[in-house]
Amino acid sequence: KKRERNIRRMLKERLPGEIYSLLKSAGHQARDMGYQVYCVGGFVRDILLGRSNLDVDLVVEGDGIKFARALAEKLDARVREHQKFRTAVIICADGRKIDVATARLEYYEHPAALPMVELSSIKMDLYRRDFSINALAVHLNPQNMGRLVDFFGGQRDLKDKVIRVLHSLSFVEDPTRIVRAIRFEQRFGFRIGAQTEKLIKNALELNIFHQLSGSRIFHELQMIFEEDTPLPCLIRMENYGLLKHIHPMLKLSSNVKNILTETEKVINWFQLLYLEEKIDKWILYMLGLLNHINEVQAGIIMQRFNFSQKKTRHIFSLRSQINSAMSSISAWHQDQGKLSSLYFILNPLPLEGLLFLMARVQKEELRKYVSHYITHLRDIQPQISGRDLKKMGLTPGPEFGRILKELKAAQIDGVACDRQEQKEWVRQKIAEQSLQGGKEKRASGKN
Ligand code: CTP
Repeated sequence: KKRERNIRRMLKERLPGEIYSLLKSAGHQARDMGYQVYCVGGFVRDILLGRSNLDVDLVVEGDGIKFARALAEKLDARVREHQKFRTAVIICADGRKIDVATARLEYYEHPAALPMVELSSIKMDLYRRDFSINALAVHLNPQNMGRLVDFFGGQRDLKDKVIRVLHSLSFVEDPTRIVRAIRFEQRFGFRIGAQTEKLIKNALELNIFHQLSGSRIFHELQMIFEEDTPLPCLIRMENYGLLKHIHPMLKLSSNVKNILTETEKVINWFQLLYLEEKIDKWILYMLGLLNHINEVQAGIIMQRFNFSQKKTRHIFSLRSQINSAMSSISAWHQDQGKLSSLYFILNPLPLEGLLFLMARVQKEELRKYVSHYITHLRDIQPQISGRDLKKMGLTPGPEFGRILKELKAAQIDGVACDRQEQKEWVRQKIAEQSLQGGKEKRASGKN
């Protein structure tokens, strides 16, 4: 018999201290209640792979909700309960969330009409999961702390770098797993096992994708867009014929591939520069996938994804904003326009639109201008506020906005950079205007 593996040392070495002690607390709590508790799923997979994953998933043999309440009290945390599924989420003071599920004991009629068989509930819980590498558990009760539970060859598949389902109906039960298989395969540099691949092809021949709701399909796509390199996943999806199952117009032509490659580069560039600023990556990838598709067809595809009116309108309006910005900056560049004009061309675009524009412009020089806008101009603010204008004798009104806008332009074009220069600039403006005002008065007086 194979010796059971204990990974307690690995847990201690690889996990942040607070997570390791959280697992220990869970184990103690379970023991005190007469339950068994395990951490499971992607969390365990990633520990074995040496990848960081802070999403703790616990499965309890016992009453999961009761357990979650007790553990939360110990940790001084809140609980959100879902009675229907016997699950709970523990929400810690620092915002960290721990998912807790109940492994139900299930009784199975033995095929040979033998008495009912009781399967260990953790085994049943793991058997319901998608792939062997996601069906590993680690026992947390103090007596067994760190014992790896591997009923389905998950460790072997991690070693062999294979994505493998646990039974032949897996994809029929949950077609989204087809996309998940591709996502994990590409993320880890694994390959989908031969048998599993056959099951994918069979499932697709049964047209199971048609039964899937649009929101579920899009959710899976969105998970792909959140990966570090979505493009290889999309290519794999296309090769399996998955994209055309979603919609016949969804194709990765070389044009689309080029655009998505550029999009990926731009996203990486931006995320490296601005670690804190979140972007909705899905918007960029949707714009890329729909780039060569006309309005009507794009609308149908978004309908297939169950997009809300608002979401659809947002994509459409971005498309047209980006198109007009494209032609405006070309013209601007040809006319050797001022930087401030570039600013006012790009200013209406939200960040996702700017990034997609950057991916789309062909000329390297234009791309540099868009990137300059993002890094240097986007957040520019005059050194002078409305309060300063008031102090300088101007009365608040629509005039204010206009002056501040012109001031911004002066700042961008290097005419009035620091506070001193800007004050001077405003004074001059006021003087010009009163001169102008005087002229107008005299002019109107003549009539
Ligand atoms: N799971 C499943 N079938 C699905 C979705 C999820 O069996 N369609 C199971 C898997 O065991 C998975 C766990 O639920 O490990 C948690 O799901 P999720 O958080 O989506 O997956 P992770 O493996 O944690 O993936 P990621 O690293 O992308 O978060």
